[in-house]
Parts: sequence; structure tokens; C-alpha cells
Amino acid sequence: MSNPPVLIDEAAILKRVGELADQISDDYADKGDLVLVGVLKGSFIFLADLSRRLSIPRIIEFIAVSSYGTGSVSSGAVRLVMDVRGNIENRHVLIVEDIVDTGHTLKYLIGILESHRPASIRTCSLLHKAESAEVDVKIDYVGFSVGDEWVVGYGLDFGEQDRTLPYIGTVAPDDRNGG
Ligand code: IMP
Repeated sequence: MSNPPVLIDEAAILKRVGELADQISDDYADKGDLVLVGVLKGSFIFLADLSRRLSIPRIIEFIAVSSYGTGSVSSGAVRLVMDVRGNIENRHVLIVEDIVDTGHTLKYLIGILESHRPASIRTCSLLHKAESAEVDVKIDYVGFSVGDEWVVGYGLDFGEQDRTLPYIGTVAPDDRNGG
């Protein structure tokens, strides 16, 4: 199969990641270690690039959730697969997501992380499907807004495929429907 068509190329992604890192570094200057909580699996490449561009002290944690649903259609129900391992109490936490679609996952994650009593929680997502929002959840740092289409690459998958593409590409509607 040929590679998915390019939506956001590698240079544009890296430029934007650098801008986000600068903004986050400014906002958290002199606040001690920032705990970056990467949401598995989709955020792993974004987290790697973002964390290495920060100019402030940071700690890396991971959390894993799974959505009930099939293929590219989310049912809105989210389940915790793996919680953070380290102690984040009284620390500043930044959730690092690959994409916010309906917002159910991010809202659920905020609830889980609040139960660890951090000093603060903010959210960062490389991509945002603004037209698809079903719940009201604030994204403090957004890389790019995208339309209501399935995107892959730079960590994002379609059925575990295409995560390691260096760019963000789109999956044709025919492929999404299994055609
Ligand atoms: P939400 O709960 O509907 O906001 O969905 C968030 C999760 O769905 C993301 O963390 C992704 O794992 C997945 N997701 C939603 N849209 C896409 C997409 O276009 N490509 C890849 N994964 C997606």
C-alpha cells in the first residue's frame, strides 16, 4: 500500500513542537520539575521531541488508557490500563496527548490525575479535532487544529499501522470503513 497523503509535514511539526516547548518553558520557569505525563501509545514520539526541547527541569511519566469502541469510532467510554508510577503529589503536571477528538479521554485522564493531588494540571495536545468535541475540556497547549478525518503518523495509528511515519497523514474514508 502507498503511504498516506501528507496533511502536516515533518518540518512544520518540528517547528510547532519547538514553539510549544518555548511557551511551556516560559510558563513553568522557576516552578521546579514539570511532570510530563505521556498518554500511551499515541503520544510517545511527540513526548520525546517536546520533552527534549524544553529548557526547564522535567520528569517523564506515562499513563495508558483504552477506549471502548471499534476501528476509528469511539464509544466515549474510557478505561484505565496503567496509572502513573511515580509520586506526582504537589507537583505540576502536564498531560501530553497526541490528539483530542471528542474530549472524553482527556476529561477522564484529568479526573484520574486529580486523584493523585498534584499542585496543578494542564493539558497539551499535538492535534485537536475542534469540530468533534462532545465534552467541554480545556486544552492549554495545542499544536494544530485538524478536521474530522482520521490521521496517522508521528505516533498516531490506524489499527496499529503508520505510527512511525515522520509526518501526519490522512487515512482515506474507504480505508477507515475497511473498504
Ligand atoms: P477522544 O476520547 O474521542 O478525544 O479520543 C482520543 C483518542 O482517540 C486519542 O488519544 C487517540 O488515541 C484516538 N484518536 C482519535 N482520533 C484519532 C485519529 O484521527 N487518529 C488516531 N487516533 C485517534
